[in-house]
Amino acid sequence: MDKELSPVGSQVKKITTHVLKAMKHAGEKISMLTAYDYSMAQIIDQAGIDIILVGDSASNVMAGHETTLPITLDQMIYHAASVIRGVKNSLVVVDLPFGSYQGNSKEALTSAIRIMKEAGAHSVKLEGGKEIKESIERIISAGIPVMGHLGLTPQSIYKFGTYAVRAKEEEEENKLKEDAKILEEAGCFAIVLEKIPAKLAKEVAASVEIPVIGIGAGNGVDGQVLVLHDMLGITQEFSPRFLRRYNNLHEQITQSVQAYIKDIKSKDFPNENEQY
Ligand code: KIV
Repeated sequence: MDKELSPVGSQVKKITTHVLKAMKHAGEKISMLTAYDYSMAQIIDQAGIDIILVGDSASNVMAGHETTLPITLDQMIYHAASVIRGVKNSLVVVDLPFGSYQGNSKEALTSAIRIMKEAGAHSVKLEGGKEIKESIERIISAGIPVMGHLGLTPQSIYKFGTYAVRAKEEEEENKLKEDAKILEEAGCFAIVLEKIPAKLAKEVAASVEIPVIGIGAGNGVDGQVLVLHDMLGITQEFSPRFLRRYNNLHEQITQSVQAYIKDIKSKDFPNENEQY
């Protein structure tokens, strides 16, 4: 890895929650992407990504559901265990899925322990603020690092009714600022801010000591996260303003598959060198 791209000026280094905090304080931006399987996790880990999120967006991009709500704890553990097997340096964060932590803090801890034990994950992420403070504290007291998630929290999509930008009004803005402080006080090692005004995100990042990672939250935060399938251009229909596409794999895969079909139909594949 290029020395300039490596965390806090070192050579390739295993990323821990302490490294992330040091990166914030050194002004080094944190990179984060989702992954849901071994092969992709191995590629992005070796490419030097700081954090890999086994997001419940697997419900959308891997399983084809409209929302993140249907994915189960068992399914998240399957994805997380696959990712972990491909990772050497990145910190792996796993989403606690909808319904696995909202009931009570004991259930939240049981779910987090399953993810750590059965998948070998390094940390978990929960959506929400004040209302899940007790669960966060209980998980952290068991020695499990927790990442918070505020702003557009997709598990609450039926409450919001829309995927529009959150916290544009004063009341929601104030609640988000207060929630960020609560998450920091509860012991979260970082917070994701999704789809909120850039000015507010910058203010929140400056108000807490822990790293703030944005998605659709502007450039004033400590790092950025995108869904891997969106930034690689595998998904086509999802095109929010914040999404920068670094490839068009949908087109490239289509062309490769069509070339393969053509070679089979024309009896060109396999040739003499490709058989025994
Ligand atoms: O599940 C996910 O992919 C996420 C990111 C959008 C932050 O939570």
